[in-house]
Amino acid sequence: MIRIARLIRWGIRRNRKEVTVLETSPKSKVPSPKSETNGTLDFGPWTLDFGLMLKIVNVCGARPNFMKVAPVIRAFEETGCIQSVIVHTGQHYDQRMSKLFFKDLGIPQPDVNLEVGSASHAVQTARIMERFEPVLAEHQPDWVLVVGDVNSTIACGLVATKLGIKLAHVEAGLRSFDRTMPEEINRLLTDSISDLLFVSEPSGLENLQREGVADEKVHFVGNVMIDTLHANLEKARQSPILAKMNLEPGGYNVVTLHRPGNVDDPETFKRIADALEVIQQDLPTIFPMHPRTVKQLAGFDLAKRFESMKRLQIIEPLGYLDFLRLMSQATVVLTDSGGIQEETTILRVWCLTVRENTERPVTLTRGTNTLVGTDADKIVSAYRRCRATATSDKPMPEKWDGCAAERIADVMAEQIGGN
Ligand code: UD1
Repeated sequence: MIRIARLIRWGIRRNRKEVTVLETSPKSKVPSPKSETNGTLDFGPWTLDFGLMLKIVNVCGARPNFMKVAPVIRAFEETGCIQSVIVHTGQHYDQRMSKLFFKDLGIPQPDVNLEVGSASHAVQTARIMERFEPVLAEHQPDWVLVVGDVNSTIACGLVATKLGIKLAHVEAGLRSFDRTMPEEINRLLTDSISDLLFVSEPSGLENLQREGVADEKVHFVGNVMIDTLHANLEKARQSPILAKMNLEPGGYNVVTLHRPGNVDDPETFKRIADALEVIQQDLPTIFPMHPRTVKQLAGFDLAKRFESMKRLQIIEPLGYLDFLRLMSQATVVLTDSGGIQEETTILRVWCLTVRENTERPVTLTRGTNTLVGTDADKIVSAYRRCRATATSDKPMPEKWDGCAAERIADVMAEQIGGN
């Protein structure tokens, strides 16, 4: 359909001046162009402009966004009728929090980097908005696409909506029902201003319906983060990380913590440390540490406590492929990340989520995830239960099949020619 649409209405321009509009059918003979750029076929003296192209500005900013935009940008490219502009807000900027992911995931270099860096929520959000507005004025996209729930998501969403540019949100509808989490505010606000909402799991559909979002805006497409996992699992097997760290498959645990609720509060962080102290006595425990957590560890005088845990190894944040390999062979993963709850579900690795709630309930019913909160005894008993039990083989969540981005591209391509 899209190819037919492309051929039906194209402008023929000579010397860049539009002279006529051809009506043609898919069977018409079309001479081969010498080159194709930005929706324009260059035949030498003639330039053919296919009038039906969709221009989408794709926003990414923080670590989990990169895994989500990678398959979407690829799927857009494959339609042949969507032109992508990639904007990196610079919310994350370190080599290990950003650049490594572009390399590992083969994401094209961003067309624009807003370089906003770290700041308070208000300042960071405001900076992104201020710097994103002129980008939209320059590129004049038909749509802006945002992913996930970070500050970059809501900041760019707001700018687009206020300029009257349509907004698509990938990973819409997730709710932790905990408004103390900055991400929950970002999710609620972004969904309320989006024109298309792409949902990753059934709870998202229920939440949006309850909030009164019109059905025609909502599409259950599956999980783009899992597209990236399926696409990279084979490559990740080549990662030398286990050998480098002298680890046996199935012979170690992995920990990640970065939520303000866990690491910005000294009492909570200490309770989690109590649990880790016991767990690392059972198996070597690898802790790739987020910059926020590194900062708090020093500030709360917890560094010595962690140093005394001989089988707990703190390392720098890993790139995508190394982390995927490490996680895939772990015995138990303890985390407060959203994405890791989903990835362990597919990898069938036990996941203990060090939070009281999750916005991804399908990982509890279909996956290997358990909510354990931050009480040391509860964390340790849940860990012991995992050690004593084989992971389940429940059916995988619906549409977590590696094709979510293609479904998104199909819906977006249908917007061509719309107002
Ligand atoms: C952000 C997201 C969170 C996501 C997480 C993944 C929001 C509100 N939070 O939290 O949802 O799960 O990213 O990592 O958007 N820092 C560096 N280098 C970097 C980035 C950050 O050193 O490249 C340090 C800075 O000191 C910064 C702190 O980490 O102040 C926190 O970074 P920030 O982006 O504000 O929030 P995250 O905790 O990473």
